[in-house]
Amino acid sequence: MTLWANCIIGSLILLAPPGDEIECIPTNDDVQGPFYREGAPERTDLVVEVDEPILFLSGEVVGWDCRPIPGAWIDFWQANVDGDYDNTSIEFLYRGQQFADEDARWTLQTNIPAPYPGRPKHLHVKVQGELSNILTTQLYFPNDPENASDPFYEKSREIVVLEELPNGDLIGTFQFQLEEPGSPTCPADFDGNGTVDGQDLAFILAYWGLDSPVYDLDEDGVVGGSDLTVVLAAWGNCNNR
Ligand SMILES: [Fe+2]
Repeated sequence: MTLWANCIIGSLILLAPPGDEIECIPTNDDVQGPFYREGAPERTDLVVEVDEPILFLSGEVVGWDCRPIPGAWIDFWQANVDGDYDNTSIEFLYRGQQFADEDARWTLQTNIPAPYPGRPKHLHVKVQGELSNILTTQLYFPNDPENASDPFYEKSREIVVLEELPNGDLIGTFQFQLEEPGSPTCPADFDGNGTVDGQDLAFILAYWGLDSPVYDLDEDGVVGGSDLTVVLAAWGNCNNR
């Protein structure tokens, strides 16, 4: 990494607000799209075109209670500056995995992806903490005119731009908040896979008629129909709440 890049990344980390000053917002999922490839190299620098605008992004990964999740796995992939994906090369261009540090922080530097027909500028990403299911989602760029007509865009998943430099480079931040077992927004996700589904229903049936502090969701002293109702009412992906 060049000296100037080190300086910018250093400034970026200083600019990014610490976790306890950021409002904790659950990160909901988004479509994976057709271009994900497993096995991308472990790296935080995806820049290919050094003369094109660069995004310096940093952030952290937290749980439902805003607790940092050190070592969380993050896998970014994106289109290049022409709006194309590298779907075949062994270089895995514009694709990189990394792990958050001991403070649950991460950094990424990459060329700003071009929009392609039907989509605004966006980054694809998968994130997983030790206890959570894999979150597959996308991040968007503020003020992209294509955002308004995109069926997947959500304002809550816009990159927070801290500074835009004269050469078009962007310094930004984003916080991933993951669902985990026992989170208050998804208590019926007993197995913590991010979805209330048949596996969770099976737990209710296995403990039917028993007194269980875990599966007696309404705490009436017995696992039964009222708890089944809670599970069915919560059916689906926890990240969409
Ligand atoms: Fe895409």
